[in-house]
Amino acid sequence: MREIYIPETNQLSSELGVDIHWIEVCTSTNQVAKQLADDGWGGILVADYQTQGRGRMERAWLSNPGENLLLSWAFECRCKVQELPRIPLLLAGELAHAFDLFVKWPNDIVTKEGRKVGGVLSTVSGLEENVWTVVIGLGLNVNQMEFLPELNASSLRMESQLGQEWDRMAVLKQVVEVCQGLDITQSFERWSARSITLGKRVEVAGRVGVASGIREDGALIVDGKPITSGDVHLVEM
Ligand code: BTN
Repeated sequence: MREIYIPETNQLSSELGVDIHWIEVCTSTNQVAKQLADDGWGGILVADYQTQGRGRMERAWLSNPGENLLLSWAFECRCKVQELPRIPLLLAGELAHAFDLFVKWPNDIVTKEGRKVGGVLSTVSGLEENVWTVVIGLGLNVNQMEFLPELNASSLRMESQLGQEWDRMAVLKQVVEVCQGLDITQSFERWSARSITLGKRVEVAGRVGVASGIREDGALIVDGKPITSGDVHLVEM
């Protein structure tokens, strides 16, 4: 793996106390970070480009080389199994807050109008009872200015008033700080405040109804019943 941005990432690593590697290309940072984490590594792996980037439901995650942030954060987490699904939601909520964006259930980071700017995808493997290796992947569209129309996507740059290019190293620093501040026991208050889903009439997993709340494990309550996976579509009233 050829590392790039070495002085800057070394400086960020020591400033934030986390091992950060920024490489040019790999299959998927989630895949590589998981292999490393299985050998005991913890830290953040960033790539300029992925040949097999994956999103939720095994969808391809497409990103122009060198324009966005593609990263995976590997860490050990001590918690009960039922708490694990909270992690990607909480992270999406905190990132949405940090970049003045919104969330769409479960972990999409979106504009107020619902255009996708980022997404979070985690994998977990058990080490021992209530101890887990978590690899949480983040794709954040930073400077990309054009997306396939069907993706309904946007980027930090496209959402900026002046349309200026963002410094990806500075964005990475902000992301790492958010990761480090994450507390698995925290409430979904921030996620809820940033949600474009709650209180709306939605269709998800074959159910249509009002998304009235979010359960402790991150399930979306629609028509009084919990939904644990699926894509949410807003339904006109
Ligand atoms: C989603 O579907 O919204 C989640 C997208 C997650 C994409 C990121 S990019 C970095 C990491 N590597 C991957 O292959 N996926 C995640």
